[in-house]
Amino acid sequence: MPSTLDRPHVHQLLDRLHREAARDDERGATLTFTTGAADDSSALRRAEERESLYMPISEPAGRLLYALTRASAPALVVEFGMSYGISTLYLAAAVADTGHGQVITTELSSTKVAATRRTLRDAGLDRVVEIREGDALRTLADLEQEIGVLLLDGWKDLYLPVLAMLEPQLVPGALVLADDTDQDAMTDYLAFVRDPANGYESVEFPVDDGVEISCRTA
Ligand SMILES: C[S@@+](CC[C@H](N)C(=O)[O-])C[C@H]1O[C@@H](n2cnc3c(N)ncnc32)[C@H](O)[C@@H]1O
Repeated sequence: MPSTLDRPHVHQLLDRLHREAARDDERGATLTFTTGAADDSSALRRAEERESLYMPISEPAGRLLYALTRASAPALVVEFGMSYGISTLYLAAAVADTGHGQVITTELSSTKVAATRRTLRDAGLDRVVEIREGDALRTLADLEQEIGVLLLDGWKDLYLPVLAMLEPQLVPGALVLADDTDQDAMTDYLAFVRDPANGYESVEFPVDDGVEISCRTA
């Protein structure tokens, strides 16, 4: 089955989204950000302050997500941090092309959720994606299905709590993909998945800001 990413309509849609996202710096220059404790309310405040920003994975990172997801053909892909759905489109295209499975994604910003629903419909990929609006620590808390691929791309200080919550659902050999290995806030997360005692075989993939690929071995 040829890749959905190469269908002209999907290709053009992704192209347009990547071009919009390239203007993040311009939009960000007019915004002011507060700092504070990393608690529930601050996660929402940070999301609201950054509502106009895409902060997406790059096109090569998206193709990496597509390849890993299509190769592992998971029954369920879970995404933490959807934003305007660029990464979601790559994951959904891979799931659609394997012929089975589903993506469950989550996002705090209702503006981003509404926009991404339209985008997924436009791409014809909405049938394989369930969007859960709200804080991932709540929206994904009742997940009972087994997870084959988990993408972590929300606020970095929540990677470890989200992973701890979803770990019981990971199938043996599941892939956990974590974006932005270059960020200081990733230190604890990277130390955790790189310690074999914690049940992962982990390697940094040098695409864009770095994606940590961790295979569940426990
Ligand atoms: C880096 S962006 C995601 C980019 C997206 N994966 C892409 O490639 O297009 C991070 C997003 O995670 C969302 N987010 C952060 N913390 C969250 C949480 N606790 N629950 C749900 N969404 C969250 C933010 O609102 C933001 O839109």
